[in-house]
Amino acid sequence: MGELTGVLIHEISQPLAAIDNYISGCIARLASGSFSPEELIEALRLAHRETSRAGSITSSIRSFLQGQATRREVVDVNDVVRSVVPLIELKANLAACHVRVELCSDDMLTRADAVLLRQVLLNLVFNAAESIDSSASDTPRERLIVVSTDRDAGWVHLNVADDGPGLPDVGHDLLFESFFTTKAEGLGLGLSLCRTVVESFGGSISASTGHGVTRFEASMPAVNLSPTPASPGSAS
Ligand SMILES: Nc1ncnc2c1ncn2[C@@H]1O[C@H](COP(=O)(O)OP(=O)(O)O)[C@@H](O)[C@H]1O
Ligand SMILES: [Mg+2]
Repeated sequence: MGELTGVLIHEISQPLAAIDNYISGCIARLASGSFSPEELIEALRLAHRETSRAGSITSSIRSFLQGQATRREVVDVNDVVRSVVPLIELKANLAACHVRVELCSDDMLTRADAVLLRQVLLNLVFNAAESIDSSASDTPRERLIVVSTDRDAGWVHLNVADDGPGLPDVGHDLLFESFFTTKAEGLGLGLSLCRTVVESFGGSISASTGHGVTRFEASMPAVNLSPTPASPGSAS
């Protein structure tokens, strides 16, 4: 299987799983006869949003992997996180995990393709949930995923931490190689896509484990939008 096909299948499976979940929820509610129109509308609205997203994922990933220019615009990393919170919560619920989102209150602007950055975040969160879910249930853990953003002078950081069993005992570079997976059903393409995408934005991604926490950090150059000085005579 070619890498392009693999990545497309991998990335498209996320919105499809979400759509399936929203629609199954609607069917179950309708069948039980106990539902409010509001909750059905909300679930269908979320499903509809995922169908549109599936379309934009296909075109963004395809052009990205074929080396064509992708849309690069100033994006607020906090907005990217907010836009995937429903999907993150859905995945976390299915894996019986809790999610905490901690957004930096400073400007979190970078130059990126928002669709691709969203996929980076989803890949990291899905890995975190899968790792927690794979761990023995007798290990006392909070089963917590923390998605956070922070920044320093030149960089904005997007972090995903989990209290799962930790990274496999291999060099961290190998984790980000295409087709490296420790999962029976894994494709091993998620982290490789994350790294290629983040590097294309001029950033880098790293992984670490310590004190029971596994953490992935994607760092990208910050964009500082200094207020445009009013041109002389433009005051109205
Ligand atoms: N949060 C995590 N905790 C532990 N291991 C992880 C985590 N994220 C990724 N990994 C490891 O990195 C491998 C590669 O991840 P990825 O490229 O997303 O492929 P896949 O999820 O299909 O296995 C995983 O199989 C797993 O061994
Ligand atoms: Mg993965």
